[in-house]
Amino acid sequence: MKITTALSLFTLCLLNGHAWAADNPTLSRGEYLAKAGDCVACHTVAGGKAFAGGLEMSTPVGAVYSTNITPDKTTGIGEYRYEDFANAVRNGIAKDGHHLYPAMPYTSFAKVSDEDMHALYDYFMHQVKPVAQANRDSDIPWPLNMRWPLAVWNWAFHDDAVFQPDSQQSEEWNRGAYLVQGLEHCGTCHTPRGIGFQEKALDQHDPAFLTGGTLEGWHAPDLTGNMKSGLGRWQADDIVTFLKTGRNDHSAAFGSMSDVVEHSTQYLSQDDLHAMAVYLKSLPSSNPDAQPPQANDATTAALVKGDMQQTGAQEYVDNCAACHRLDGAGYSKTFPALAHNSAVLSDDPSSLISIVLKGGHVPITQQAPTGLAMPDFGWRLDNQQVADVVTFIRNGWGNQAPAVTADQVKKLRSEESTVEKR
Ligand code: HEC
Ligand code: HEC
Ligand code: HEC
Repeated sequence: MKITTALSLFTLCLLNGHAWAADNPTLSRGEYLAKAGDCVACHTVAGGKAFAGGLEMSTPVGAVYSTNITPDKTTGIGEYRYEDFANAVRNGIAKDGHHLYPAMPYTSFAKVSDEDMHALYDYFMHQVKPVAQANRDSDIPWPLNMRWPLAVWNWAFHDDAVFQPDSQQSEEWNRGAYLVQGLEHCGTCHTPRGIGFQEKALDQHDPAFLTGGTLEGWHAPDLTGNMKSGLGRWQADDIVTFLKTGRNDHSAAFGSMSDVVEHSTQYLSQDDLHAMAVYLKSLPSSNPDAQPPQANDATTAALVKGDMQQTGAQEYVDNCAACHRLDGAGYSKTFPALAHNSAVLSDDPSSLISIVLKGGHVPITQQAPTGLAMPDFGWRLDNQQVADVVTFIRNGWGNQAPAVTADQVKKLRSEESTVEKR
């Protein structure tokens, strides 16, 4: 009995964490949590009213549209009682009983504590302005658009248990685990998907958790301690700086991660970000044999001499070297280094192909308001040239990663992404 009391007290402190107030005195608790859950990113279209829905999200069977979650009584969730709201957010069941597509990350939100769920509900009911905007049906063709099979999906893949702290771990670790697995739903993009499009793992008990996933043309890399393509070479503070400002000495956030920083993680308190970093740094390497890249000057020496023999070298010098430099080291906090960059070294090259095709912008945050951009090269380079230059950066300066083919580039050229629609 003593243990249970201690444990529940512990849970209370943990989930109660008043850390949010210190850094963000202007945000109510519910608003802070809504930022953590990044509700606005999916429930708002570019130029549209906040939380009014309508964002197109692609799934393997067709597009679905997010819904209006403003408190409008006819088109939004104004008639939702607390129980209806919690059931939608945690279990993916709308007030009228229909099942939501798991494009809404309720498998992660299931971990949210009752107290936080109440704060979120209060925020949506009392602080968000009602907007009358009707929802849009999905483009998924019959019979795949029938929603009842989602009940079977839930039976197979959904766990409705709220977060259970691990008493063997520190309070900070538990706070980080609660945020990463729950509201922050990092696994939506960073965990590989299985046969039913389900995330293969929802917490660290399964080694697939956060080992990398690909969604809408962007590969979200391995976040475990992998020394090559994961966070093995990042310190906890590097993770905090990246999530707060969108850049650090290793990398700059791009693609769909840029949105995550801009809409969500930049608003988290230093304590919460540090807790998440502590939790991420505790995840063992997905591949203990993976070695950190070794320094190798051969690429730089060849480029300086004007030796363009290596495939892609010419494209690199003509299009990239002005910013990322001949030595691939870029300019600290301005143009990211490509040499030894963990994102460049992921086995899956999707993000690299996509950023070369579509360009990118460093997130604009309160702490780093200047938005640096990488130009798009999709109109300038053909599929083979893109493949060559990406292969080049993946194997220059001591980097080592599989070559990229023109076919892989062709596929991604036609891929639609929500990133540009926001
Ligand atoms: C990754 C994208 C994504 C994020 C993040 C997200 N949602 Fe959703 N949500 C959706 C989609 C898509 C739907 C509609 C699914 C459907 O129609 O089957 C939805 C549906 C809902 C519904 C059901 C409303 C109705 O139509 O009855 C509620 C409530 C909801 N979301 C609340 C939230 C809250 C609160 C957050 C933040 C904590 C959030 N969502 C974050 C994608 C998202
Ligand atoms: C909407 C999809 C999405 C979500 C949600 C998401 N990420 Fe990412 N993340 C990406 C993509 C894509 C990249 C690769 C681009 C880059 O490096 O910025 C990335 C990159 C990263 C990197 C840099 C890794 C490296 O090796 O360079 C870190 C760290 C990271 N994410 C942490 C997180 C954390 C922590 C969360 C939860 C708060 C999260 N991400 C949620 C898509 C996502
Ligand atoms: C005008 C300067 C400029 C040029 C030219 C340029 N880039 Fe970039 N690059 C950037 C900036 C700025 C970022 C950060 C973008 C972001 O965060 O969205 C970036 C990011 C990247 C990244 C992601 C690395 C990371 O960790 O953020 C890769 C890969 C990349 N560039 C490759 C290339 C290649 C290949 C070329 C040539 C085809 C190229 N770049 C040309 C400025 C440039």
